[in-house]
Amino acid sequence: MSKTYRFGFIGAGAMASAIAGGMIKQGLSNGSDIIMSDCSAEKLQELHNTLGIQPASDNNQVVSEAQYIIVAVKPQQFAAVCNDLSVKPQNHQAVISIMAGVTMDTLSAQLGDIPIFRVMPNTPAKIGWGMTGITAGVHTTEEQKQVVADIFNSVGKTVFVDETYMDAVCALSGSGPAYMYQILEAMADGAVLCGLPRNTAYQLAAQTMAGSAMMLLETGEHPGVLKDQVTSPAGTTICGLRAMEEHGVRSAMIEAVEKAYIRSKELGEKK
Ligand SMILES: NC(=O)c1ccc[n+]([C@@H]2O[C@H](COP(=O)([O-])OP(=O)(O)OC[C@H]3O[C@@H](n4cnc5c(N)ncnc54)[C@H](OP(=O)(O)O)[C@@H]3O)[C@@H](O)[C@H]2O)c1
Repeated sequence: MSKTYRFGFIGAGAMASAIAGGMIKQGLSNGSDIIMSDCSAEKLQELHNTLGIQPASDNNQVVSEAQYIIVAVKPQQFAAVCNDLSVKPQNHQAVISIMAGVTMDTLSAQLGDIPIFRVMPNTPAKIGWGMTGITAGVHTTEEQKQVVADIFNSVGKTVFVDETYMDAVCALSGSGPAYMYQILEAMADGAVLCGLPRNTAYQLAAQTMAGSAMMLLETGEHPGVLKDQVTSPAGTTICGLRAMEEHGVRSAMIEAVEKAYIRSKELGEKK
């Protein structure tokens, strides 16, 4: 990027610190370009010490001084944030909401007809392996879209989607880490049942999950083709796969995503 921007965060919690950390690590920003507000002055001081960010006196200072304002409070805290604001973001600024389930309609009703992004990251962003879905509002510019992509590419990968798909993104990559941990734990349990020490089982299961996902991403092969490559006739893998089919694992996963999708829609409608 040829220009330096000043970024602001409202809320300095787990996601805000992960994103700011990624931005600094990737050279998108240096700490002094980032201003943050939070209820806890101690939290801000700690991030000042570790990342070099500027603590703000309140949310109004972030809105007044940041070009890109990342709203990183819990969804249920958003109303209080808006009520307490005495300044409103302007047209030359952009607001980026990472709040799960808060729709573009709600955001623009509260913030006005300004450039707004609705973004759904996931927890692996904390280690630079996140997956983020981004919806760009109608007033956003190409330059702003690029900056927002840069922000979230600094903590993983990004995809732009129409807002209609945001509930599906939430159900897949937003909730997905929990599904993966559940499957990973169950696979390790199986190996423990077969006598493998617990820690070794987690190590094997986790690296297998990560390696398999990487292989799909790098080869671009259909998952069924990669599955067939592991599955020799009358071998061990086909026995394992048959057990998975007997217990409806595939169907359970489809339904897990669908149930999360339905819940995400419900939560969005309530706000
Ligand atoms: N964690 C995830 O995996 C994930 C994934 C995708 C999206 N998100 C979204 O990311 C957002 C942040 O999640 P998080 O896990 O980072 O939450 P978090 O750790 O609780 O961070 C939110 C921070 O905002 C502060 N805050 C509360 N009210 C405030 C106010 N009025 N003004 C300024 N700061 C205020 C909180 O302080 P207190 O602790 O004192 O309340 C807290 O430090 C959520 O909306 C969530 O939906 C999270």
